[in-house]
This record gives sequence, C-alpha cells and structure tokens, in this order.
Amino acid sequence: MHNVDNDAHSRLQCQGINPTFNMTPVDLSVFEKLLSPNRQVLTVSGKEFFQDRYKQLGWELREIKLRQTIRINNTNAQGKNLIERLNSLGVPLQKIPFLQSGYWVLDSKVSAGATAEYLLGLYSIQEAAAQIPVSLFSDLKGKKVLDCAAAPGGKTVQLADTMDNTGAIVALDVDKRRLTALGNHLERCRITNTVVYLMDARQTPLLNIPFDRVLVDAPCSGNFAGDRDWFKNRTLKDIQRNAAIQKEILTKASECLSRNGELVYATCSLEPEENELNMDWAIKHLNLQIQEISSYGQNGLTEIFGRKIDHSVARCRRVWPNETQGFFVAKLKRS
Ligand SMILES: C[S@@+](CC[C@H](N)C(=O)[O-])C[C@H]1O[C@@H](n2cnc3c(N)ncnc32)[C@H](O)[C@@H]1O
Repeated sequence: MHNVDNDAHSRLQCQGINPTFNMTPVDLSVFEKLLSPNRQVLTVSGKEFFQDRYKQLGWELREIKLRQTIRINNTNAQGKNLIERLNSLGVPLQKIPFLQSGYWVLDSKVSAGATAEYLLGLYSIQEAAAQIPVSLFSDLKGKKVLDCAAAPGGKTVQLADTMDNTGAIVALDVDKRRLTALGNHLERCRITNTVVYLMDARQTPLLNIPFDRVLVDAPCSGNFAGDRDWFKNRTLKDIQRNAAIQKEILTKASECLSRNGELVYATCSLEPEENELNMDWAIKHLNLQIQEISSYGQNGLTEIFGRKIDHSVARCRRVWPNETQGFFVAKLKRS
C-alpha cells in the first residue's frame, strides 16, 4: 500500500476501515427496476438509432481518429528537459492548447509507453479530454481528496501530481483487477499521498471524512470514439442502468463533501441521461449548485429531446468527439 502523509489513513482505521479488499455487495434492485413494462423500449440500440439521437441533440456523427496523448507529471519531470529528451528519442510532441500539461504525440517512431522516461513516471499516457476533469478543481495542494471510481488511475496520478504529493487522496474502485493497474500506476509515478480501497463508492459515507475535493469520474456507457464495437454493444437499457448507478454514487459522494468543498462529475458518455439529465436531477435532489467553469467543450444542453431542464446546466461542458474522445464535465458545490 502507498504511504499517506497525513492523518487520513489513521482516521480511516479508527472507523474500522483498513486498506484491504472489503467489497460490499452491489444493490441489485436497480437492475430489477429496469426489467419494467418499458423493457422493450429500453433495448433499442444500433448506429442509426444513436446517430439520430445525436442529431436531435445538435451533433452529426462522424468518424474519429484519436491521436496519442501524454500528460507530463510535473512533480517528477521538473528540471529533466523531458520534451527535448523525448524529441531526441523520436517521440516528437505538440502542446495541446486547452490543457496545462497535455501534449499530442506526433508520428512517434518509438512507443510512448516504452521509454525510460515513461517507466520513471515523468509522464503518463492519458487521453486529452480525460485530462479536463482534474483541471477544474481549484487549489488542490494540501487538500483531502476523494477519487470515487479511480482505476486504472489516470486521474488519481494527475490529482497527486497537481497536489505535489501533499495532502491525501482516498482512491476507491470495485474492480480488483483494475485496482492492481491503479497500484502499478501509482508506484511507477512515485505517488506518496494516496491510499487505495476496494470499496463501492455508494459506501463512501462509511469513511466518515469530510473531503475538500471529490472526483466522481463515474462508471458510464463510454462512447464510440476508440471503441469500434460500441454501437453494436450498447443499448438504451445500459444507459438507463448506468444513469441510475451514477445518481446513487453522486448521492453518497456529495454527503462526503465539506462545506466549501468542490465536487467534479465526469463521464466519457455522450448520452444526456448520464450527463445533463443527471446534473438537473442532482441540483434538484442533492442541495448542489453547478459552478461556472472555463474549459474546452460546449455548454451543457438545456433542452433534451424537447424537454427543458434547469438553465444552470449550461455551465457544464459537453465535449463531442473531434480532436478528443467524447466527454462531459461539471463542477458542483453545496448550495
Ligand atoms: C471511468 S472508469 C474510471 C477511470 C479512472 N478515474 C481513471 O482516470 O483512470 C470508472 C470506474 O468505476 C469503477 N466502478 C464501477 N462501479 C463502481 C462503484 N459502485 N464504486 C466505485 N467504483 C466503481 C469501474 O470499475 C471503473 O474502474
């Protein structure tokens, strides 16, 4: 396990929660609810079906070719002339204008995951849009941070790097195999402020810690960019199921937010049920307000398939796939 430099770890142990694998059974009632009289309606799927949905939301489906992207771990890379070193190895980079430490890899002759610099944790391979959520938090240094759905750890490492390994991060996930990947990622990047638990994010109030910053990088339906079988595999029923789980995670995660704390909600789904409609629900049920953010992407939609939702949902950002994969982000605070 990784070191935690402040008292968060001992406080968790006082609650009888150790960094061991304490998985709690998943509540299956949410799935049962979906086996409803609407079942047939919920199984609709296919490329044309989604293409039509996106058109109704104002976007034309197109082919996307994603470029490889890295994010510099500034804590480790300081004074190491990383960009020049990678360039001389045959990994030329181009700065991504809307990210602080993100670079496109241009025509690399060498795999970006096979350099000594990568193995030393000087940079991570992290998709461009996936770098946005962590960048929305203010003042991360020294803070207590909850990363609710953390594996394989791209954003946990980004959090720790932005925090300069100060404060403490509690990182949770329910998938043991993915947690192994998270552990490896933390070790490679020499992260020292993070403790990892195999734990369902819907159990977070058991931690009994008020967190200054909470990241809900929610389990979601994903999007077609980078997954050629997405249209074949996804149905509206999956989307409804994920939207229900996201609401449950948001509910419990928001209970852990300190008075002036910040919660960032993110998905890599394009589906409004998992994004704008969940945010509309959250501000009505969870005593949360959506904050203004300045970030890459378009305003959140406030009219979904003819239904008008709260105007503050426009403060979210919806990233349709183009230079990046699809993403949705929102920053919330207590009302
Ligand atoms: C979008 S991925 C997270 C990606 C990660 N934040 C990163 O940047 O590398 C969603 C994660 O949620 C996890 N997950 C699914 N249900 C969960 C739950 N109830 N509580 C905690 N994690 C969950 C999945 O195992 C998956 O690893």
